[in-house]
Amino acid sequence: MENNKREEWGTKLGLVLVLAGNAIGLGNFLRFPVQAAENGGGAFMLPYFISLIFLGIPLMWVELTIGRFGGNRGHGSMPGMFYSMWNNRWSKYIGILGIFTPLIIVIYYTYIESWTLAFSFFSLTGKYFGAESRESMGAFLKGFQGVQSNNYFSSIMPAIIFYLITLAINVYILSKGVSKGIERLANIAMPLLLIMATALAIRVLAFGTPDPANPENNITAGLGFIWNPDFSQLTNSTVWLAASGQIFFTLSLGMGAIATYASYMKKDDDVATTGIATAGTNEFAEVVLGGTIAIPAAVAFFGLVGAQEIAKGGAFDLGFQSLPAIFQKIPLGQFFGFIWFLLLFFAALTSSVALTQPAMAFLQEEFRIPKERAAIIVGLVIFICSIPVVFFLKHGFLDELDYWAGTFGPVLCAFLETIIFVWLFGMAKGWEEINRGATTRIPKVFFYIIKYITPAFLFTILATWFYQSAIDVLLMKNIDPSNRPYVWGARLMMLAIFIGLAYLVRKSWRMKEQNPPHLSPEGGGLG
Ligand code: PHE
Repeated sequence: MENNKREEWGTKLGLVLVLAGNAIGLGNFLRFPVQAAENGGGAFMLPYFISLIFLGIPLMWVELTIGRFGGNRGHGSMPGMFYSMWNNRWSKYIGILGIFTPLIIVIYYTYIESWTLAFSFFSLTGKYFGAESRESMGAFLKGFQGVQSNNYFSSIMPAIIFYLITLAINVYILSKGVSKGIERLANIAMPLLLIMATALAIRVLAFGTPDPANPENNITAGLGFIWNPDFSQLTNSTVWLAASGQIFFTLSLGMGAIATYASYMKKDDDVATTGIATAGTNEFAEVVLGGTIAIPAAVAFFGLVGAQEIAKGGAFDLGFQSLPAIFQKIPLGQFFGFIWFLLLFFAALTSSVALTQPAMAFLQEEFRIPKERAAIIVGLVIFICSIPVVFFLKHGFLDELDYWAGTFGPVLCAFLETIIFVWLFGMAKGWEEINRGATTRIPKVFFYIIKYITPAFLFTILATWFYQSAIDVLLMKNIDPSNRPYVWGARLMMLAIFIGLAYLVRKSWRMKEQNPPHLSPEGGGLG
């Protein structure tokens, strides 16, 4: 029976590419520049790199290890992984976070992904050419999103069509499975993506000083803005929260997505070097490529103040408004616009399948549902839940999902996960497990970092959040009163999804208790 034979990645290179594809996403090219600009450029980078070393890299190893461990015991999603590490009735419920968080994210992520597909198409056809200022590009974007109807778009129909196409592509890839679907995609999309991003970064560096009348607006000023460290901000907790949050988001940590991919590793596949390679590739794409494209380009054309203003406008303004406005001012603009949005689409696609795979693995393994059917079920759930995201965009529905799943959830999940790994599974066993099969052993100092510093760091973030913002956020102090009903709607939807998942977890464990599966040599099933 195929039950005991789990899918595996085809090749070692494929493993690195799928993990890079998982991590490199819209976070690298859209979210990172906005976070950096909003939080003072150079002031952001120090907390960012400190978070990379004390949270990002240790958690990458921990999640890869948990995933490989769980996968060898037949579990590709966190409820089963946690249960196999900590035999307690609550462990499987904590693991729900590892399906819930990515599922909530993918509900809005796929929609944004579909905008990138649409805009690469609009670049080719030149549809937005003529909307030359940032303001008119903003109107173009709002028209497309159905936020306002104007002379660019009279209805939201085009957005819906591109969304359905994007969702169908995702479902198709997932239905093909791990190595024939996801790995094949990464083998093609990742090299192309890196080539396109490098080409664009070089093009941006060549902007120099685009307007001789405004010599202070130039690429060097843009790079300086990000790279001149500002030590005075090291005590600002807002900057710390933003920086550590970005590390989670960009490395796909605290969501179960890395663990699920790791579950398809072989028993003695290396975790140590793979983790560094994944984090390293992602950081290259983020700070080198992502950091060179959006902000320096915006500074060169709109000045330092202008660029920061754009970033404050929201996560999408840099990518969807200022860059298209710039492409209209340079030779071969349609081509570069096409490249920019296509590379965003590839980055997003390889991430959205990663966000969906935890739910896929859960249905396939805990309910024995074949992958084709699982892909259709998850696709339908995403589609239904995304309807309010599409129609209530201007009422903050997307932002609410993003706040809980994209910012808060991962920190909580990572905290619980380190507690399980370090204290309940046991750090001594954990360290052995991390280093099993390692091509190069991890320096011993990380034993102590993982055991003490990472959990303390996570705890501090959570405690600061409770102290500084919990009440205001829960009571929606900063949300426009007219939007509050929609935000409540978003919260109810998340609650319903969580309860639904808890019910399914309970049901699958009941089923297995009554009807234990054949034990594989690894001790599959419940173990
Ligand atoms: N890391 C991805 C990005 O940077 C987002 C993501 C998060 C993907 C979690 C998978 C899982 O866009």
